[in-house]
Amino acid sequence: MTPTRWNSERLEQIQRGILETAHRPLEQATALPAGAYTDLDFYRWEVEQVLKKQWLCVGHTSQIPAVGDYLNVDLLGEGLVITRDGEHVVNVLSRVCLHRAMDLMPEAYGHSRQGNRRNFVCPYHHWSYDLNGSLIGAPEMDKHTEFDKQGFCLPRFRSEVWEGFIFLTFDPDLDPVQTYYSGLLPFLEHRQMADMEMVVNLKWDCPFNWKILVENFMKPYHHLGTHHKTFEPIMPAWSAWTEAETAHYIVCHLPFGKRIADNPEERQKLMEFSLSPLLKPQDFQEYAVYLGEPSFLLFIGPDRVYW
Ligand code: FES
Repeated sequence: MTPTRWNSERLEQIQRGILETAHRPLEQATALPAGAYTDLDFYRWEVEQVLKKQWLCVGHTSQIPAVGDYLNVDLLGEGLVITRDGEHVVNVLSRVCLHRAMDLMPEAYGHSRQGNRRNFVCPYHHWSYDLNGSLIGAPEMDKHTEFDKQGFCLPRFRSEVWEGFIFLTFDPDLDPVQTYYSGLLPFLEHRQMADMEMVVNLKWDCPFNWKILVENFMKPYHHLGTHHKTFEPIMPAWSAWTEAETAHYIVCHLPFGKRIADNPEERQKLMEFSLSPLLKPQDFQEYAVYLGEPSFLLFIGPDRVYW
């Protein structure tokens, strides 16, 4: 049912357009209707009905390897802190103080988005919380006759760790991550991604709809233009191919072009910097991109993973 706060007529028009696009044969494919990328009501509907009802990847465990490590993430209007607590458990907690709703770690107060803490102290009135969100200190509140610290804990979001990646969902009834992405395991298992370490974290401001990034990531057509001197010689657009689409994920293969395939020196370089001793010979013949719907994007080759 469509909540009344959305313009249901326009929403239905965009949804109809999307269905019509999806039903077109590949040879007659078109882009989605413009409103799917630009309409604010449609975006709000998408957030509630699509994004919040699926698993969203928010980090990799190597970003918080030690007890006390934390990572701040802002997602769909929620300020989150991902922590590694004393039991080595990964928690995804709200970063909003339970007293007067202050952000526990505002960047304007000099807090970094990633680091290591024994606890979190709200900058407003110094209430403090431990690594799993329990309130451990509230100055002067002992004078309140009915105040009980035990009753306060930062809201916890449902999360799971799968293949080393940390996923969150806003839907309490969603099946486990494995249910949706198990078909990706034959491509991922021997890469040992849970044991990998994230070595660089790049950040871009992307003032466009999230689907633009997903579509761009999954289609090598733009190698011909944007990357004609870089990616195109290594993984030419013409040789890319996509496996039959499934309900929850897509796999697109990017076989190596001549620059690598016919160049023993280049191939040797790849072998020397192999991601894992478990790689198979076919892993040295291509890069590949993967989409776990809606937005879990991976680029994997013999020597690297981009996520
Ligand atoms: S708002 Fe956080 S302690 Fe008051």
